[in-house]
Amino acid sequence: MALIAPSLLSADFLNLERDCKMLDKSEADYFHLDVMDGRFVPNISFGMSIIKQMRKTTSKFFDVHLMILEPEKYAEDFRKAGADGLTVHLEACVHLHRNLQQIRSLGMKTGVAINPHTPVDLLRDVIHDIDLVCLMSVNPGFGGQSFIPHSLQKIKDLRQLITERNVHTLIEVDGGVNIENAGTIIAAGADVLVAGNAVFSSPDPSDTISQLKKL
Ligand code: DX5
Ligand code: ZN
Repeated sequence: MALIAPSLLSADFLNLERDCKMLDKSEADYFHLDVMDGRFVPNISFGMSIIKQMRKTTSKFFDVHLMILEPEKYAEDFRKAGADGLTVHLEACVHLHRNLQQIRSLGMKTGVAINPHTPVDLLRDVIHDIDLVCLMSVNPGFGGQSFIPHSLQKIKDLRQLITERNVHTLIEVDGGVNIENAGTIIAAGADVLVAGNAVFSSPDPSDTISQLKKL
């Protein structure tokens, strides 16, 4: 059984309070919050002021996925807005180890996301400092894309690295996850499933979350 992290990127922003309360009552484990700066990725989403508002609706874990350059400039602001975990992109960090120390010192769980082209091997010397690895199974920037099949091999490689190093890092898979492929993704070794489109475009999002939870 995996943890389920619905991505609010696919929520109805005119009814954000309704969608947040629905997730709060559902079997969702995390709120996955995608922050985009229009520089690291070719899209702009939302920032700390929206997260601060969402924080009023739930006490569930806020899993904040930063698709931004220079995340160190904003880590403290995201903490203040209510982030419980902060995930930065390896590709956006010149001093990744320093960024992780900063996140931890602010009292948050540390996360590192890697793009589809980035080998899992690059995490070898920092894995013991990471609470969650977010394996991107699409190119970041947009919801509703198709799962890249090679991601399954990356999940297996990362699981092997985690076992070898005897650490407790969670494997999160982000992008193109749906009811049809979730079982295979869990079998490959995923601990946390992000699902945006699959949840919010379904007729009954709360029921879709329950179905994902049962796999
Ligand atoms: C993509 C984001 C994802 C996205 C997932 O850049 O990081 O979290 O919202 O959406 P789906 O599940 O629709 O692929
Ligand atoms: Zn994400």
